[in-house]
This record gives sequence, C-alpha cells and structure tokens, in this order.
Amino acid sequence: MRHNNYRLTADEIAERYNTDLSNQIVLITGGSGTVGYATMESLLKRGATIINVGRSAKTLKQVEDKLHNDYAHLSDIQNRVYSVVMELESFSSVKEGAEQIKRLIKQLDLPLKIIIANSGIMAINYRQTRDGMDPQWQVNYFSHYYLITLLHTELKAAAPSRVVLVSSSYHALLHTGGALHIQYDKLPYPPEKGYQRFQPYQQSKLALVMIANELNDRYSNDGITVLSCNPGGIVSNLQIESGSQAMMRWTNRMWKTPAQGASTQVYCALAPQREIVGGQYYDNCEVWSSQHFQELGQGVSKDERVKLYEYTQGFLSKYGAN
Ligand SMILES: NC(=O)c1ccc[n+]([C@@H]2O[C@H](COP(=O)([O-])OP(=O)(O)OC[C@H]3O[C@@H](n4cnc5c(N)ncnc54)[C@H](OP(=O)(O)O)[C@@H]3O)[C@@H](O)[C@H]2O)c1
Repeated sequence: MRHNNYRLTADEIAERYNTDLSNQIVLITGGSGTVGYATMESLLKRGATIINVGRSAKTLKQVEDKLHNDYAHLSDIQNRVYSVVMELESFSSVKEGAEQIKRLIKQLDLPLKIIIANSGIMAINYRQTRDGMDPQWQVNYFSHYYLITLLHTELKAAAPSRVVLVSSSYHALLHTGGALHIQYDKLPYPPEKGYQRFQPYQQSKLALVMIANELNDRYSNDGITVLSCNPGGIVSNLQIESGSQAMMRWTNRMWKTPAQGASTQVYCALAPQREIVGGQYYDNCEVWSSQHFQELGQGVSKDERVKLYEYTQGFLSKYGAN
C-alpha cells in the first residue's frame, strides 16, 4: 500500500511551512536534473537565492534562462539564480568550484543556509574516472562529502544551517551485489570481471546514509544539521544507462512526478528543527523508524560510521583532495 505522503509535492511541503528564504542561499548540485530542477523551483518560489552546481556550463546557462523566463513575474529573479561549473568526477574540479562558491557567497553577502547534495548517477557501464575511481562512488559520495567539508566554514557562519544528502532506497537493497556494510575491498573501484553495475550505487547511497549520521554528530555543535533522504522512484535520466528507463516510462503512472520526488528533500531542507531528527534518513517526508536502522544493523553502527568517516578523510587526502 502507498504511503499517505507518496503524492505530496514539494510546493505543498513548502507551503505547509511557509518558510521565507529571502536573502538566504540554497546550494544544490544537479539542479539541472529532474528532481533537482523541481526542488530548485520550489525553493526559488520561497524567495531563496539559488546556487546551481553542474558539470556543463551550457546546461547551467539554459537552466538559468528558463528560470528567468518562467519566473519573470518575480521582480528580483535576475539576481537570484547563480551557476557554478563542477565536474563531480574530478576532485580538482570540486576544489575549484568550491573556491568559486566561496567567492560568490562573499560577493552576495548572504548566508549559505542549505546544501542539497542531489547529483547522482546509477548503474553505469564499467569505467574509471580520471582520478582512478568508480564514477558512482566518486560522484554520489566522495565528491559531495568533499564539497561539504570545503564549505563547512560557510555553513557554520550561517548556523542554523542544513545539509541534505540525497540517497536512495537502494541503499538497503541487496540484490545489487552490495551489502549492509561498506565493502572497502571494492574501493576505489570494483573488479571489472563480474562487475555488478548496481553494486557501487547501493554502496555509495548507503555511505551517504551512514555519513549523514556521522557528520550530524560532528557538526551539530556548529549548528549544522545533516540529514539523508530518498526521493522515491521518478522517471529520469538516472535510469538511462541501466536500461530501466523504458520500463519506468511504461509504468509511468506508478511513479512519482518530479515535483513529488522533490518533496522529501524540500521537507528535509525546510521542516522546523523541532520536527526533524538530525542524522536520520527520510522517505515520503517522514523519518524512517529506528527499526529501519536496526534492520541495517551493524552497517550503520557508530563504529562503522566512524570507520567510514576516517576512511573517507584518509582517502581524500591520498587523492590530494584536502
Ligand atoms: N529518479 C529516481 O527514481 C531516484 C530514486 C532514488 C534516488 N534518486 C536520487 O535522486 C538524485 C537526483 O536524481 P534524478 O532522478 O533527478 O537524476 P537526473 O535527472 O539524471 O539528474 C542527475 C543530476 O546529476 C548531475 N550529474 C551527473 N553526473 C555528474 C557529474 N559527473 N558531475 C556533476 N553533475 C553530475 C546531472 O548533470 P547533467 O544534467 O549534466 O547530466 C543531473 O543534473 C540522484 O542522487 C539519484 O540517485 C533518484
């Protein structure tokens, strides 16, 4: 049976809280994608100044133009959408992009209130990035982690601030060849022989759930809350390489629309502090029960989270990303 909130849209959530985001920055990665765009639109309507982070200058410009056009009735729209080019398959590009973001924040003189780490790739064909990593791990997990640590000072200065890590229900699905713990022996990339394309997706999305918990523990004294979430199933470019998009299109009515898919990340961004539980994983605009974490078991235990945190720090410094 469908969850009661399954069909809630991002705008319905945003209207529920009636949050005024005027003079506040929301940074989103992948605002040009399906769920990211719907998220961006909803927060733009609440008055936010958006920094959209994406890998293609051309696509970013097209998105800016579309927003300027569609929201021309908002008098200040020309001053509320900014773009930063960042290739998440490259740690040096993340670093350069973060420096640009820092300059932009200074120039705008506005607080960085919310980061939504939304970009993602799924079940792609076997290859390695130029940094010598599995692309799903690098894009979904490591680069987002790196970006957040690079912007920690800005988040702290804007406290109370929030980070939303967009995971997936796949984090708990085991038919992928994955596991409910991190398979460190398959990093920085799994062996090509017998490659299971969903394995790095499941693993990188599990890592996001775990690190949201751990970073929340480490950042909450700075007034930064970190959450993870699942948008739900939405037909998008995410499914192209795995070949599952045709089936998703065929059964389109079962799935969430982009606006419905954006609702949980908008919820995590806007719900009042008293209503949310820092570090937790949200689905259908609700925290998943502690039973969910019990079922995940050892994989999300404090020891395993600390191990992932230390591994990630060490890994990034080994790759010159520090
Ligand atoms: N759709 C679903 O059913 C579903 C289910 C569960 C979780 N999710 C999660 O929701 C998030 C959004 O997914 P979506 O459905 O909106 O997918 P999408 O339409 O394919 O959007 C993905 C976004 O990520 C960006 N991206 C991909 N690789 C990148 C790279 N190397 N560097 C920088 N940006 C990159 C894409 O940029 P380009 O525009 O340049 O390609 C695009 O903006 C993802 O994290 C996904 O895992 C989606």
